[in-house]
Amino acid sequence: MNVVKLTALILGLLLCGAVLPALADEFTEADLKRWEGEYQSVVEKGRALWVGTELSSNGVACAQCHPNAANTHPETYPKFQKQIGKVAELRHMINWCIRNPLEGADLDFDSAEMLALEAYIAWERRNVPLAPGKH
Ligand code: HEC
Repeated sequence: MNVVKLTALILGLLLCGAVLPALADEFTEADLKRWEGEYQSVVEKGRALWVGTELSSNGVACAQCHPNAANTHPETYPKFQKQIGKVAELRHMINWCIRNPLEGADLDFDSAEMLALEAYIAWERRNVPLAPGKH
C-alpha cells in the first residue's frame, strides 16, 4: 500500500470515528421511561388477549393450555412446524392455535392484536437464550 492510500485509509477511519457517534441515537432517562411504558402497555394488551376469550368462538383461552405463555418457545422460531408444513414464524403458530383450539379467525400479521400477543409471549420468555430451529 502506498503512502497516499494509507493516508486516505487513516483519514477515512478517523472520519468514521468522528461521524458515527454523532449519528448514534441519543436518549434520556425520560425517553427510556416513556419507551418502557409504551412497551409494557402492549405487553399488557397481549396478556389480556391471552387470558381472555376475545379471540375465541368457543370460550377457550390461550392461558388454559399455555399458562404464562408456557410451551410457546418463541426462542426457537423461525423453525419447521409440521402443522404448517414449512419453516414458520411464531405468528403462524399463534394463528394456528387461534384457528384450532380457539376456533377463531386468523389475525392479520400486522394487526395490533398479533403484535400484542408476540410482545406478551416474548416478555414471558425473556432471558431464554435464542435457539432457532430447535425442537
Ligand atoms: C387446547 C390447548 C391449546 C390452546 C387453548 C392453545 N394452544 Fe397453542 N398449542 C397447543 C398445542 C397442542 C400446540 C402444538 C405443540 C407442538 O406441536 O409444537 C401448541 C403450540 C403453540 C405454539 C408453538 C409452540 C412451539 O413449541 O413451537 C404457540 C406459539 C402457541 N401454541 C400459541 C398459542 C396461542 C397464542 C393461543 C391462544 C390464541 C394458544 N396457543 C392456545 C395447544 C393449545
